[in-house]
Amino acid sequence: MKILVVGSGTMGHGIAEVAAISGFDVKLVDISWEILNRAKEKMLESLKKLYEKGTIKDSPESIMSKIEMAVTYDVAKDIDIAIEAVPEIIDLKRKVFSELDRVAPQHAILATNTSSIPISDIAEITSRKEKVIGMHFFNPPPIMKLVEIIPSKYTSSDTINEIIELSKKMNKIPVRLKVEVPGFVSNRIYFRLLQEACREVEAKEATIEGIDSAARYKLRLPMGIFELADYVGLDVSLDLWNVIVSRGATDVKCSLFSEKVKLKELGVKSGKGFYNYPAGKYSKPE
Ligand code: 3HC
Repeated sequence: MKILVVGSGTMGHGIAEVAAISGFDVKLVDISWEILNRAKEKMLESLKKLYEKGTIKDSPESIMSKIEMAVTYDVAKDIDIAIEAVPEIIDLKRKVFSELDRVAPQHAILATNTSSIPISDIAEITSRKEKVIGMHFFNPPPIMKLVEIIPSKYTSSDTINEIIELSKKMNKIPVRLKVEVPGFVSNRIYFRLLQEACREVEAKEATIEGIDSAARYKLRLPMGIFELADYVGLDVSLDLWNVIVSRGATDVKCSLFSEKVKLKELGVKSGKGFYNYPAGKYSKPE
């Protein structure tokens, strides 16, 4: 089976890596070789960690040899599945899907890794609405087991079943949504936690560090609630929050996030968010 991943950012290159580890022939497309080369370095770094730990048996180089990189959509002409992971801008996603629809064979399924855009809005740009579906991975894709499967009102049951099977072959745990709701399953739960955490900080009832300790050592989450927001990116978290609010799923807002984003303190990637990350890399806050 040939899988095309569109977009080689954090999610895209992680998804391509997972697909190659699972034995699929993978193509990874982005807009420039500079971006693709950065993605290649990140994948190699991650594969080396997994290889040293014995999580994967094949060498990082042999897994990388299963990933063909390209800067045009021509490589889509013989694929079976495309997974789009470009930035969360609806016009951009629709443009990508319209290109994929033009080039990919008729049998190919077109999946999107969107975390917030309605799948139906993306499907409607194509001539194969029944083959368009949400397949939402989590960061870091090589480690996180959950994949949310989001059918739109147009998606066929064959498409849903194929994507559930694909997720299992990628060694993931697929969770299928019954209806398309903003934030899907896990982000809606996480945002409830985040809203209460923000309220407690804004009301000066607790500190960010205190809340994160409670999350780690009582709720037993792998990261604190604010720490996870830093890890995801405060701009991404804010966008997602705004989408959930604008689509009526909640009316709670939190100025802590917009203030940080205004200051360009975006979390791990900018070196500072709620905590400091001097090397621009994630490390557990002291
Ligand atoms: N590739 C390979 N290995 C990786 C890796 C990667 N990309 N990222 C982390 N690891 C490895 C580390 O090397 C480490 O290996 P070791 O145990 O041999 O040292 C192991 O994973 C654990 O990493 P750390 O020691 O650095 O730290 P943690 O134990 O805290 O684990 C974590 C890191 C796996 C990221 C864990 O903290 C975690 O699960 N955090 C929650 C992440 C989460 O919730 N992600 C979802 C975000 S929401 C999202 O993506 C959706 C979108 O819509 C916004």
